[in-house]
Amino acid sequence: MPSLLHLDSSLRTSGSRSRRLSADYVDAWRAANPDGTVRYRDLAADPVPHMDEGVYVAHVTLPGDLTDEQREQRALGEELAHEVLAADVIVLGAGLYNFTAPSTVRTWIDRILVRGITVGADGTGALGGKTLVLALASGGGYGPGTPRHGWDHREPWIRHVFEYLGLTDVVVASAELTLARESPAMVPLDLGHAEDQSLAAAQELLVAHAATV
Ligand SMILES: Cc1cc2nc3c(=O)[nH]c(=O)nc-3n(C[C@H](O)[C@H](O)[C@H](O)COP(=O)(O)O)c2cc1C
Repeated sequence: MPSLLHLDSSLRTSGSRSRRLSADYVDAWRAANPDGTVRYRDLAADPVPHMDEGVYVAHVTLPGDLTDEQREQRALGEELAHEVLAADVIVLGAGLYNFTAPSTVRTWIDRILVRGITVGADGTGALGGKTLVLALASGGGYGPGTPRHGWDHREPWIRHVFEYLGLTDVVVASAELTLARESPAMVPLDLGHAEDQSLAAAQELLVAHAATV
């Protein structure tokens, strides 16, 4: 039975483009996989706490060497890592916050690297064969030719983390210029039409991909 893990991280509870895109993907995936299962986690509403030293050490210790205290310290990490491991498709909705991913995505990623589950004893990642779908939104535009091309550190960072974990099949759909109608600096640029086009193109890409997996 196919399985999908759906994650959102926008701090917005209304008007979020990344939430809309991730939901569009999941709806299309459900239609294509009526027997599939979906697990949902909202990283903004239910944030994963930062690690401390004990939690980190427990995460990098092999299961056979764990103390009882360390087993407790990595219980949340094990739960999150198993969710990822159980999924064929991982859909992550994320805005661009100060040129990178929301910090809630960062704390989640810190916890899903668990020795003996997602990272083998020899350091090999266990997520090969899975697909990662990034449903992204950004207030500005970061494509080739724009003044801030290369300033979006979110997508390359997420790609690198998942490549380290063995996952290389990454699909990216990005709604850009989402502040075109809201930001005083952007309103005079009259980019509302481009914002709509970007959102529509991202939705089209996601719905088409969901029908194929
Ligand atoms: C804390 C914070 C920081 C942001 N930093 C950036 C930024 O660096 N670049 C940018 O283009 N937009 C930035 N934005 C705007 C968001 O990327 C934009 O509103 C996006 O649509 C958020 O995703 P959402 O629509 O799913 O909420 C920021 C928004 C917030 C709340």
